[in-house]
Amino acid sequence: MTTVSDNIAFKITRKTDGTPAAERESLVANPGFGRAFTDHMAVVTYTEGRGWHSAEILPRQPLMLDPAASVLHYAQEIFEGMKAYRTPNGQPQFFRPDANARRFRKSAERMAMAQVPEELFLDAVNQLVKIDAGWIPDPEVGTLYLRPFMIATETALGVKPSSEYKFIVIACAAGEYFSKDAGPVTVWVEERTVRASRGGTGEAKCGGNYAASLTAQQEAKANGCHQVLFLDANERKWIEEMGGMNVMAVMDDGSLITPPLGGTILPGITRDSLLTLARDKGLIVREEPYAIEQLYADAASGHLRELFACGTAAVVTPIGTLKSAEGTHQISNQTGKVTAELRKALCDIQFGRAPDPHNWVHTVG
Ligand code: PLP
Ligand code: COI
Repeated sequence: MTTVSDNIAFKITRKTDGTPAAERESLVANPGFGRAFTDHMAVVTYTEGRGWHSAEILPRQPLMLDPAASVLHYAQEIFEGMKAYRTPNGQPQFFRPDANARRFRKSAERMAMAQVPEELFLDAVNQLVKIDAGWIPDPEVGTLYLRPFMIATETALGVKPSSEYKFIVIACAAGEYFSKDAGPVTVWVEERTVRASRGGTGEAKCGGNYAASLTAQQEAKANGCHQVLFLDANERKWIEEMGGMNVMAVMDDGSLITPPLGGTILPGITRDSLLTLARDKGLIVREEPYAIEQLYADAASGHLRELFACGTAAVVTPIGTLKSAEGTHQISNQTGKVTAELRKALCDIQFGRAPDPHNWVHTVG
């Protein structure tokens, strides 16, 4: 299901009555997460036999979908999460957008969907950020969060890969995913349901993985937790990842432990970047299975010093407490030194405040 995408040019239709400047500025100054949407969207259509066509940047608007569109029945849907950052000279930039484009292709492959060529993906996010640049918050407030996604739009109830797709990008001004003032977050260790199993869709960024995580997330909330940590499906022994972020542990011997990628975990771009930055800093990086009982024991003995969540939305968020049906395990009530250093090193590159030795940032333009 490969695609022809030779030089697809975006037709640009500006919104004539865009959000009034005062309203936009007030939203951008206090955006929260996932609600302060910009004025435009990118839409590209795929038709089997024709490939990608009809690329448009147009005013953000509801979609018209036939009620038999296959996404509504068989959940052929994938998405990405990425950000545009305002740099000190005002110029916006992306962080590793090529990695998002590649992961989007891998997710599409797993879900038997059309492949969006990397250049088309990058062009769509770039065009959208250019037209909605006024929605990028100041660095102290946040970023412009981009949500590229693809849905299956064929009108057909037969269970088969769709022959038509829409690739869409929307954007919103975004602040912290977790309130900064709240300090380290509390995480529910889910022992009842699993997020992903071997051979499943865990390493794809598809909507179904998130739907499957919601009962656990509900349980987490009911137990006063911000997020949920999933264990492996086979033994319910090994930590895997959280509902919407990867997890890392800092040990007292200067090592950083994170579960290995093995098909059930989303290969986080933040995860990969932090492992690189940690190696740059001389930390010992261990991508190793880590048993939850061992983690509890290490927290009690002091061998485990810091635990944090990482992802595009979460950035680097310290985990203070783990709770489960069996009880509560305290990690730390403040942000650890290594957590803070890694967060700073990452954000300084993302916001253009530090050199970019790994060529991760791409200027919008
Ligand atoms: N794991 C899950 C389940 C996620 O939803 C995310 C967020 O995208 C991540 C990990 C972190 O990935 P990334 O750092 O690429 O945002
Ligand atoms: C992201 O970090 O981009 C995600 O997709 C995770 C979700 C919690 C918003």
